[in-house]
Amino acid sequence: MNVHHRGLATAAIAYALTVLAAIGLSSNSVAQQAAPQQAIPSGEFHHFSISTLKLDPETATVEAPTAGAQTVSPEPISRATFREAPAGFDNRTNGFDAQGPAFDTIDEDTVVPLRSFNDNRFIFEEVEGVADGLGPTFNAQSCRECHQNIVTGGASQVAEHRTGRLELTQFVESAGGSLIQSRSTNAEIFEQVPFEDSVSTLRVSTNLLGGGFVEAIPNDTLLAIRNAQPAAIRGTALEVAVLEANNAPRIGRFGWKSQHASMESFAADAYLNEMGITTPLLQNENTSLGRNVGFGTPFDPVADPEDDGVDVRAFANFMRATKAPPRGPINAQVRAGDVLFNSVGCGGCHVATIRTAAPGTRINGGAIRVRDAVGNKIIHPYSDFLLHDIGTGDGIPVLPGAQFLSTAPQLRTAPLWALRTRNRLMHDGLSFTKQEAISRHAGQATAVRTAFNALTPAQKDQVFAFLDSL
Ligand code: HEC
Ligand code: HEC
Repeated sequence: MNVHHRGLATAAIAYALTVLAAIGLSSNSVAQQAAPQQAIPSGEFHHFSISTLKLDPETATVEAPTAGAQTVSPEPISRATFREAPAGFDNRTNGFDAQGPAFDTIDEDTVVPLRSFNDNRFIFEEVEGVADGLGPTFNAQSCRECHQNIVTGGASQVAEHRTGRLELTQFVESAGGSLIQSRSTNAEIFEQVPFEDSVSTLRVSTNLLGGGFVEAIPNDTLLAIRNAQPAAIRGTALEVAVLEANNAPRIGRFGWKSQHASMESFAADAYLNEMGITTPLLQNENTSLGRNVGFGTPFDPVADPEDDGVDVRAFANFMRATKAPPRGPINAQVRAGDVLFNSVGCGGCHVATIRTAAPGTRINGGAIRVRDAVGNKIIHPYSDFLLHDIGTGDGIPVLPGAQFLSTAPQLRTAPLWALRTRNRLMHDGLSFTKQEAISRHAGQATAVRTAFNALTPAQKDQVFAFLDSL
């Protein structure tokens, strides 16, 4: 299943959509109709059976602490308890886990998965080989290869490739999934792009720093953001399956298509689709363009699951324990640009400020509770984590199937935190300047771009100074 990060196909993910036919409806009427529409993809990859679909009831209710639960706060929810999330490019924990032994003293023999931030970072950075289950088709040997700038967990310039084709109005993935792995352990099984695949896109690696705070945003908060958006720019909230919670539905927020809702699900997906390592959550080895190259063939010596799932939890906890990206220097020019960014309407999608759920809240379909370190925090991701059609869609829906075709032209609002550390922008990494990225905004962002274009050159410079501070 080549669904790296689950964009498409398969099993894991997105199986229900809240499709918003926003155009032409007033905000109120849309808000009232905003119950998620249920859609379950069929298809050979969908190996999960999903019986009932309910929105994850992630209200702000704090449940009583249970024995063994992590740092459940007995405090009642109150605005007064919200604190700014810690930010920094400094390889330090946000408090989710202890910092642990000095990073440089950890090696393969002394590492203890899940013990500390530094242990989990070591595992995130570890280079895997064939004996560990790497491949047979893969994209890189370590999570860090694609998530490193400025520190481990940041974004990078590495892009991956997805392809498929349109048959009538149906999107059909390349055999074995739309993700084309660009490396293999054996030249015979290297994936060449099929000539008939006319739909093709690059997707650059995204930032993971601060991901634990994003995971701790309640569903209701994302839905409230959506419902408050003017009809013309209203986003789509996608319900996806949380793999570690028996595929319980939750609003997606990770990846260019918001194709995952939990760090653990994304980590399992990435381990399989970027590195070719199977785990209990995703046990079927990737193919080479549909050809079985897994255990039992000459190409894969390791039985599935190749990892017992501990690495996946270590990746997830590493990401959850990272600090949010920090702002650069803020001066008068930056502050003026901030005001303009919001007054022309950029902030309608690139939402500046979001609050996380209270410590103790059950999230991820009940799989975990929000720990103190990520609960009741104020973050500034400059995203609504919803899907929008701004005319840049890559033509590949979140899953194959007619009911998902509406997601083909949509992408998640790119979170702008850490923007100053990226120079290949947009999902394909093919806009090299802020100016180019803004000029590609059309579709739902047309009116906002027009308002931006009407600014004076001095005002635009202020907006750019603001963007350069993120
Ligand atoms: C070959 C490069 C590559 C490697 C290796 C890689 N990733 Fe990624 N990662 C990406 C790309 C590209 C995306 C965006 C994919 C998309 O949405 O289609 C991404 C997105 C993510 C996201 C979503 C973050 C967000 O909000 O957008 C998470 C979480 C993630 N990766 C975790 C991991 C973990 C854990 C590993 C190691 C098991 C890993 N990645 C290995 C390239 C990589
Ligand atoms: C209707 C929602 C919407 C509005 C309004 C909007 N954006 Fe975006 N923005 C997006 C989406 C969606 C993407 C990702 C598009 C893609 O990758 O193809 C994006 C991407 C970007 C990026 C690239 C970030 C990166 O890391 O690659 C920048 C910069 C950006 N927007 C700035 C702005 C500015 C400045 C404004 C106001 C003039 C604005 N946006 C208005 C939805 C919006």
